[in-house]
Amino acid sequence: MSAPKKLFVKTYGCQMNVYDSERMTGALEAAGYEATDSPETADMILLNTCHIREKAAEKVYSELGRLKPLKARNPDLKIGVTGCVAQAEGEEIFRRQPAVDLVVGPQAYHRLPQMEAAVRSGQRALDTDFPEEDKFDHLPAARGPRARRAPTAFLTVQEGCDKFCAFCVVPYTRGAEVSRPAERIIAEARDLVERGVAEITLLGQNVNAYHGAGPEGPVTLAALIRQLAAIDGLQRIRFTTSHPNDMSADLIAAHGEVEKLMPYLHLPVQSGSDRILKAMNRKHTADAYLDVIAKVRAARPDIALSGDFIVGFPGETDEDFEATLALCEQVRYAQAYSFKYSARPGTPAAGRTEVPEDVKSERLHRLQALLSRHQADFQESMIGRILPVLLEKPGRLPGQMVGRSPYLQAVHLVADEAAAGQIVPVRITASETNSLSGERVD
Ligand code: SAH
Ligand code: SF4
Ligand code: F3S
Repeated sequence: MSAPKKLFVKTYGCQMNVYDSERMTGALEAAGYEATDSPETADMILLNTCHIREKAAEKVYSELGRLKPLKARNPDLKIGVTGCVAQAEGEEIFRRQPAVDLVVGPQAYHRLPQMEAAVRSGQRALDTDFPEEDKFDHLPAARGPRARRAPTAFLTVQEGCDKFCAFCVVPYTRGAEVSRPAERIIAEARDLVERGVAEITLLGQNVNAYHGAGPEGPVTLAALIRQLAAIDGLQRIRFTTSHPNDMSADLIAAHGEVEKLMPYLHLPVQSGSDRILKAMNRKHTADAYLDVIAKVRAARPDIALSGDFIVGFPGETDEDFEATLALCEQVRYAQAYSFKYSARPGTPAAGRTEVPEDVKSERLHRLQALLSRHQADFQESMIGRILPVLLEKPGRLPGQMVGRSPYLQAVHLVADEAAAGQIVPVRITASETNSLSGERVD
């Protein structure tokens, strides 16, 4: 038998891409490939791309330019582009970078093995369809180096989006909202737990809009979480990303009732100004968002909140921006992401008059300073507390491990690598910008 061909996958963008990369790796492993960490030795390179902001999309072309010379060294090397840039730009990718052999969008990954065969026979392969069949029914379980080791795993339960926020490419690149049937998700979760996974993060572009088929009708995300919580050996459940309008009462209640559901909620708001929220087509006001936050906090008082913000959306005035700062002061996020608005081709906001770049930069700077201050306050409030930490992987220094607190903070401590996957009590002794350190107290 010939030596297995080598596959290198580089992942950009959101967690769903991380999950998809694992599934694609599984599909190509079944077709005789072996995953590698080095592009230099690869016979197939896949860039699993993100189209959310201009910078993210442009990165792909510079990476392709860097990879192209590898083809001179290995004539068998094939290069593929997958993910949201593949979906959005399709054939255009071959024109901009002729070294690319394969372009496949997120809903057609189950066709990857056939496409690989076509590419090996010297053809180019392109598939940006939204087929009827569920790609996950035709993809082997997630494999690859990360999937084999980690005690934590992602599990996509819902994909696509029907919300059409005026700035966002996701409804176009991922397609309409689709939920996977509950029993498939539960079977996949059981498999993961048997392989040693202790924590599962349920993924969806609008995960809380989940409404998968169940034996007695549609299952909500809250009901799914309750069913997953009954799996022995599964210790922690998380989910991301949620939309404020889909934060139903049963999901809020689950935060107070399901012990395995971690006290962390990523709930993007984008802006604190009602005028801008309307222009963004978010279909909620700042007060409606704050009301959801209040209810979640009533159900789970210690919950850590996270959010996403866009500054400099077309038409955003100083007053609108001040409203965003005021909302942040009210919520006091444990952690948050903020971005300068980036016009995306084909979205409703793309043609609107833009806020000048220097104004965007200045606003981003001010918002991030405030968010960092709140994050530091939250981090420091942990000092002296004993937190259950799920040990994940080797840390920065020899003899160290890094794990996660219930609030999704990275925690560094002295621990043996063999303890990966265990949840241990840790006294928090110090806080840095994006992590905590502590010592085991068991
Ligand atoms: N499905 C999720 C996340 C979508 S993308 C949700 O609904 O929240 C993640 C974040 O990227 C968004 O929350 C938004 O803050 C940001 N984003 C999306 N499009 C953007 C754009 N055109 N410019 C800048 N930031 C954007
Ligand atoms: Fe994009 Fe809005 Fe859908 Fe989130 S809810 S994926 S921001 S369109
Ligand atoms: Fe990016 Fe697509 Fe995810 S645009 S954020 S990779 S859904």
